[in-house]
Amino acid sequence: MKAVVLVGGEGTRLRPLTETIPKPLLPFMNRPFLAQVLSHLAGHGVEEVILSSSYLESEFHEFLEGRGGGPGVTWITEPQPLGTSGAVAGARRYLEGTFFVVNGDVLTDLDLGALLSFHRDRGAVATIALTPVDDARPFGLVEREDDGRVLAFREKPTDRIPGEINAGTYVLEPDVLQRVPAGVMVSIERETYPDLIDRGEPVFAFPSDAYWRDLGTPEAYLAAHLDALEGEVGGRRYERPLVGEGASIDPSAAVGEDVVMGPGASVGPGASVRRSVLHRQVILGEGAVVEGSILGPRTVVEPGAVVTDSVLAEAARVPAE
Ligand code: GTP
Repeated sequence: MKAVVLVGGEGTRLRPLTETIPKPLLPFMNRPFLAQVLSHLAGHGVEEVILSSSYLESEFHEFLEGRGGGPGVTWITEPQPLGTSGAVAGARRYLEGTFFVVNGDVLTDLDLGALLSFHRDRGAVATIALTPVDDARPFGLVEREDDGRVLAFREKPTDRIPGEINAGTYVLEPDVLQRVPAGVMVSIERETYPDLIDRGEPVFAFPSDAYWRDLGTPEAYLAAHLDALEGEVGGRRYERPLVGEGASIDPSAAVGEDVVMGPGASVGPGASVRRSVLHRQVILGEGAVVEGSILGPRTVVEPGAVVTDSVLAEAARVPAE
């Protein structure tokens, strides 16, 4: 089985972090998030993954050169952003049979084997995993029959309503790509799936209550870390706080159990950190206070400065007091 992992978005909602680090390579629990996605795929028998991105491409090459283990990765050049469907269509020469497509920013322990069996049992050309949410406003809803057949995609609702949304994990047949024009921007959610439904093709949805979070916003990125620290992600337990290799905490500092410190990060005397993610080599000076924030690599918070509910770029500097 092969999979296309979509990693080519600019991740605008996570700026300024994503100005230097592509969203799928942001650390999650001190490992590049893409490593987590790849091991989830390997755990479900995926042997080869196809990736493409025109955004910060060299960062991906560095990650791929440094990694070991399965699945194998084929990198293809995406000269300009082709959208979610365009990127999959660009990989078509590598895709012979049924394949998976996964968003490179979704944290989930979805059972891909069960998704594939569902797809095959229904004779679908495309199957979309669904996840229930309490507030569908940021997402857009998928309407389906009881047997899973997709009837329609609905735009983002204006009122806060619960519903089932596209979870960003798909099983596709290669034929689906035949009508996707080459080399232009095409969205799988907004163009390819609605087009298949209009033509009466069997598109199915697979409801799942597996753990699911789209890490595309600062709130979700932070919340996913807090979930992982609480042991809610795939049953895995972490030390709390999670302290990366070579990181240091002054004995007079207060670091909450809801904190992740990257490798080489340091928290100075009397400083305090809560509900936050510090990337590698972040430095918190004496008496600094950080709460509800994400601090990019090598950020320096000078003595006495207070950072709350913020996202700071790589190598940012917060002046003292
Ligand atoms: P925002 O700008 O914050 O919306 O983030 P994004 O650009 O990543 O967009 P979005 O979260 O909607 O994208 C969903 C998935 O598709 C992510 O994993 C993206 O990396 C990926 N993606 C989006 N656009 C492209 C594209 O043009 N090419 C490729 N290869 N992947 C894409």
